[in-house]
Amino acid sequence: MEISSTDLGLAARVQHLTKTFGADDGAVRALDGVTVGIRRGEFTAIMGPSGSGKSTLMHVMAGLDAPTSGRVWIGDTEITGLSDLELTILRRRRVGFVFQAFNLVPTLDAIGNILLPFDIDGRRPSALERARIDGLVETLGLTERLRHRPHQLSGGQQQRVAIARALATAPDLVFADEPTGNLDSRSGRDVLRLLAAASREHGQSIAMVTHDPVAASHADRVVYLGDGRIVADKPRQSAEEISAYMLATELGAAEVAA
Ligand SMILES: Nc1ncnc2c1ncn2[C@@H]1O[C@H](COP(=O)(O)OP(=O)(O)OP(=O)(O)O)[C@@H](O)[C@H]1O
Ligand SMILES: [Mg+2]
Repeated sequence: MEISSTDLGLAARVQHLTKTFGADDGAVRALDGVTVGIRRGEFTAIMGPSGSGKSTLMHVMAGLDAPTSGRVWIGDTEITGLSDLELTILRRRRVGFVFQAFNLVPTLDAIGNILLPFDIDGRRPSALERARIDGLVETLGLTERLRHRPHQLSGGQQQRVAIARALATAPDLVFADEPTGNLDSRSGRDVLRLLAAASREHGQSIAMVTHDPVAASHADRVVYLGDGRIVADKPRQSAEEISAYMLATELGAAEVAA
């Protein structure tokens, strides 16, 4: 797929992207010629076996990590040419990220972590924003946990704080790396509904990595990675179709069979 640099339908895109970690004998090519766009207002799932490059792709698309070669845009801004400061400002204003490892600040309590994007931006949430954050806290079941610090929270609670933090400023673009990985099926479903509503009702563009066919079935589109390459790109599928496809192609077969 060739993507023009003026494609307005895309919230983020990468072209001919490669990412290599290490050098010489120890070099690992995590991404190998990836060209893909995240469509505006859509909920996109990214699937693929462990080590296939999903987290690396999200980090590079969000401007958290630099590509080895290739080009990266957030909206219509090519970020590969931006200074660190310009990139930081763009990311702060436009992008929310739920990390696979949460990355909460250990010294801040849950609400401190959730409000961190505002602090970093040097402002306080407006009344409207505060009301939206209250809604997120309630939907994510965190009301009773706001004064707890990360080490006092369960893995699933920390994950939900990370999700609230990523959505707190209502960014146009949200990357979520396995946001339901530590959740029971009920809170996982609440998170998936939240992400689906963010795209459907608020026009936010969501890219979510998941190993779970049920989670991916909530998305409008499923992109499959294998060995650092895009191996398939499909419109909405049922959980059964996704499982069957993964088994047939042995993409994550071990996880589906487990
Ligand atoms: N900082 C790094 N240094 C060296 N190699 C790395 C680094 N980050 C990732 N890799 C390698 O790049 C490849 C892709 O890793 P990545 O984390 O993107 O996979 P993933 O698809 O997210 O896997 P998982 O499902 O296990 O989270 C792997 O082989 C990994 O070992
Ligand atoms: Mg990963």
